[in-house]
Amino acid sequence: MKTVLSGIRPTGNLHLGNYFGALKNFVKMQNEYNCYFFIADLHSLTTHPTPENIQANVKSVLAQYLAAGLDPEKATIYIQSDVPEVAELYLYLNMNAYLGELERCTSFKDKIRANPQNINAGLLTYPTLMAADILIHRADFVPVGKDQEQHLEMTRTFAKRFNRMYKNDYFKTPKAFNFGEDLVKIPGLNGTGKMGKSEGEGNAIYLNDDEKSIRKKVMRAVTDSGPTEPNQKMPDAIANLFQLMNVVSTPDTVAFFTEKYNDCSIRYGDLKKQLAEDMITFVNPFREKIEAIMADEKYLNQVAELGKEKAKENTSKTIQEVREIIGFKK
Ligand code: TRP
Repeated sequence: MKTVLSGIRPTGNLHLGNYFGALKNFVKMQNEYNCYFFIADLHSLTTHPTPENIQANVKSVLAQYLAAGLDPEKATIYIQSDVPEVAELYLYLNMNAYLGELERCTSFKDKIRANPQNINAGLLTYPTLMAADILIHRADFVPVGKDQEQHLEMTRTFAKRFNRMYKNDYFKTPKAFNFGEDLVKIPGLNGTGKMGKSEGEGNAIYLNDDEKSIRKKVMRAVTDSGPTEPNQKMPDAIANLFQLMNVVSTPDTVAFFTEKYNDCSIRYGDLKKQLAEDMITFVNPFREKIEAIMADEKYLNQVAELGKEKAKENTSKTIQEVREIIGFKK
C-alpha cells in the first residue's frame, strides 16, 4: 500500500474551502492508502507563538480534523513535536541544503518581504523541515496545493542529494498527489476568487461558524442589480453563489433558482436566504462535533498518544538507519 503524508499548519479555523479542497479528500484517502496526517507545530514556531497560543491552536486544529472525519484508527494522526526524530533528520538534511537554493524559495521571499523584521533561520530552512517530515516516513504521495509544489521539488532534491552523497537509494522521491476531477473549487462570498481567510472578514464560512454568523455573512455576499435579459451569462459574484449552492443545496433548489435567474424573475434576497439555511444545515453537524471533541480533553490526548506511537514505529527506524548511513556507530 502506498504511503500518503500531509502536514497541517495549526493556524486558525478551517473553512469550507479547506474542507472541499483538502480535508474531504484526506478522509477518502484513509481507506485507500497508508496515511500520515500531522499538525505542523514545529513549523509554526517561525512566527513565535506564545506557549498558550500554540497549545490552543494545536488542540483546535486536531478537533476540527477529527470532526471532519479523520479517523485515528485508520490514519496516523500525530503532532509533529511529539516525534523529535523529525528534528534530528532536519539537522542532517540541513548540512546539505545550500543557502542559495533556500534563499531562492518563493515562500521564503514572500515571507521576508511581508515581515522584514523577522528573517530567522527557521524560516530559511522551512523547506528542509518539510522535507524531513516527508522523508522520515518514506512517503510516496503528498497531497498539497500549488503553493507547496516548490517545497516538494526541494524535498526531491534533498532526497536525491543524500542518496548520491552516501551512494545508496535510501530515500524515495515523493510526488504530489493529484486529485484531478475530485477537486471542487469553493469561491468566497465577496464576489472575487476563492474562499480564504486572508481575503477579508466575511469572505469565508468556517466549519465552526454558528447560525447567526452564517446568516449574516451570506446575506452580505456581493451581488449585482440582477439579470435583464433571459439566459444572460452570470457575472462572477452570482456564479459564485450558485457554485456554493451546488455544494450545500439539493439539485432541485439549484434548478429552481437557475430557472428564476434565466427568466429574470430571481430575487437575490430569496436566493441568499435559501443558501444561508442550506449552509447552516451543512455546517451545524461539524460545529456540534467540534464542540463535543474540544470538550473531551481525554479523547484528544488519547488520539495524540496513539498517533505518536504509530508515527514512532517509522521515525525511530528511519533515524536509526540514517545515523548508520551517515557513519554514526550503533
Ligand atoms: N508547508 C505546509 C503548508 O504550509 C505544511 C507542511 C509542513 C506540510 N510539513 C509538510 C505539508 C509536509 C505536506 C507535507 O501548508
